[in-house]
Amino acid sequence: MSPPPAPLFDDAAVPLPLLRQRAFNQRWAEQPEGVIPLTAADPDFPAAAVIREALVAHGREGVFSYGPPGGLPLFREAVARDLRQRRGAAVEPGGVMAVNSAAAGLALVARHWLQPGDEAIVWDPVDFLLPHVVRASGGVPVLWSIERHGPLDLEALERLITPRTRLLCLCNPHNPLGRCFSRQELESLGRLCLARGLRVLSDEVWSDIVYPPAVFTSWLALEPSLAAIGAVVQGFSKGFALAGLRVGAVAMADPEALAALLAASDQPSTVDGVATLSQVAAAAACSPEGLAWLAAFLEHLGQRRDQTIDALRAIPGLRVSRPEATYVAFVGLPAGGEEPEALVERLRLAHGLALVPGSPRWFGPGGAGHVRLCFATSEAILAEGLRRFSAGMAAAQPGRGSSG
Ligand SMILES: Cc1ncc(COP(=O)(O)O)c(C=O)c1O
Repeated sequence: MSPPPAPLFDDAAVPLPLLRQRAFNQRWAEQPEGVIPLTAADPDFPAAAVIREALVAHGREGVFSYGPPGGLPLFREAVARDLRQRRGAAVEPGGVMAVNSAAAGLALVARHWLQPGDEAIVWDPVDFLLPHVVRASGGVPVLWSIERHGPLDLEALERLITPRTRLLCLCNPHNPLGRCFSRQELESLGRLCLARGLRVLSDEVWSDIVYPPAVFTSWLALEPSLAAIGAVVQGFSKGFALAGLRVGAVAMADPEALAALLAASDQPSTVDGVATLSQVAAAAACSPEGLAWLAAFLEHLGQRRDQTIDALRAIPGLRVSRPEATYVAFVGLPAGGEEPEALVERLRLAHGLALVPGSPRWFGPGGAGHVRLCFATSEAILAEGLRRFSAGMAAAQPGRGSSG
């Protein structure tokens, strides 16, 4: 009899020596020994066995010819099928193209749809990539405030629209607030955009990490007239731990609109393009085995989310709400206390914990007074990270004591 499979997400599953060599972007490989990096949103676990096996099998065959500009048929079919089956989106393989990461997909769509001086509305706070791709296209990001809870302020949105506004950039689910927008919210945004002639760039890279009872709705699952004004960006970094493979997808309801986007990219010239090996991995992620791994990962993350929120709520002065989606907690710091950058530096140097500060650079001005913590790790690493957070906060607040 073969032994039972090793638990996928237990403490022993975190390959620390490999992460110290390979996990960059503020994570293990960039921190001094002894620092726990609950920083960039990147899981501490190895990818699903089905993905690793697909990579090995493809590699063993040794044929690495050029792929087609829009991506391998295997990739486009797998992503379109996944969007249809899991999201109810009306998407054909011809409406999907492979891109070199979700970040590159955002940049490509922004470049295609914005002329220099055009305005694009982006949430504040939001992941830096959204305003970044607008600026990199010569556009002007116009910030629309968003809160953790409560209705979207559509009147404020209307007031931001000018004759130069071309685009509304969504991040659904929202990094760093962990909000997952309802169908009704998306429909009201869609109707407004349709009426005002705006297009919608929907960053759905977090759509695999949604905790029931929250339900994710893709822009491409809205009624056809709304789906038609949108482009969806998908990724494999968050749900499938493939950040280093730099692979993502752009999907549109209309294959002709997608073909125009592809033609405007540098993929037909081969200057850009996605490594075929990465596309093979992404297609394997969309397989039944890949999705079963994702379900197990999500169950683990739901427990880590509760562990995180319970521990943070026990630290005096912090404000935090339970994210409906994503594996980040956006933590409000005590009013009048240390600035996020100073706190993050002190926690790293004195307590061995690295977090992301809520600086304008990472999340816009709306991130002020916050730090972000990623909980996609093991129970034991997270417990120790949260203990260090608590100790660090207690050290800044003499007399209040540590409750972690
Ligand atoms: C909202 C958002 N969009 C895009 C990305 C980029 O994903 P990728 O690494 O697949 O380019 C991230 C990564 O953190 C993100 O949080």
